[in-house]
Amino acid sequence: MIKPAKLLVGSNNRGKLREYAELLRGIHFELTTLSGLGITEEVEESGSNLKQNAIRKATAYAKLSGLTTMADDSGLEVDALGGEPGPLSRRYAGDNVSDKERNDYLLAKLRNIPWEKRTARFRAVIAIATPDGKVKTAEGVCEGIIAFDSKGAGGFGYDPIFYLPELDKRMAELSLAEKNKISHRAKAAQKARRILERLAKQ
Ligand code: IMP
Repeated sequence: MIKPAKLLVGSNNRGKLREYAELLRGIHFELTTLSGLGITEEVEESGSNLKQNAIRKATAYAKLSGLTTMADDSGLEVDALGGEPGPLSRRYAGDNVSDKERNDYLLAKLRNIPWEKRTARFRAVIAIATPDGKVKTAEGVCEGIIAFDSKGAGGFGYDPIFYLPELDKRMAELSLAEKNKISHRAKAAQKARRILERLAKQ
C-alpha cells in the first residue's frame, strides 16, 4: 500500500491540535505538527481578518515545510462590542495573559450588558495550502451567548464563558467529542476534509 502524504497542521495551540487530531481522523494524510518538524518560526497574524491570517499562516508553513499545510485563524465575535475581539481574540487583554484573565477581562467589559444583548459567535477559517502556492479556505460559525461567569474545565480559551442555548451548557462543559459535533472549528473542518480528500486523490 502507498504511504499517505503528510499534512502539516500549522498551529502551536494544544487545544486546537487536540481537536484536529479527532476532526481529521481517518483522512488519507499522515498528520504532522510544527513541533514534530522542528519549525519554530511564528507567522505574524497581520491580516485584517481571519481569512487573510489563515491564508498567511498556511502558505508560509507550506513553503517552509514543503508539505500540504492546513492552518486556521479563529476568534470570538461579541455583538455588544461591535464584533470584538474578532481576529485579536488571542491577544485580547494583552500578551502573556492566561485564558482565565482574558475571560475575566471580557466579562468585566460586559458587566452592564443584559442577557439578551450578550449574543456572540465563534468563527474559524481554515486555509489549506500546497507548497506550489495554491490555497483553498473553509469557514465555520458557532452561535452562543456570553454568560455572566466561567464554568466548565474542558476545551480552551473562551469556552468557559460561551453558553450554548440549545444544549444549556457552556462550551467548556462539553466533552471533546461533543464539542467536535457543534463547534465552529468542526464545521470548518468538515468542509476542509472534502478539500483534503480531493487533494489526496491528485
Ligand atoms: P488563533 O486562531 O490562534 O489566533 O487564536 C484564536 C483565539 O480565539 C484563541 O487563542 C482563543 O482565545 C479564541 N478561540 C478560538 N477558538 C476557540 C475555541 O474553540 N474555544 C475558545 N476560544 C477559542
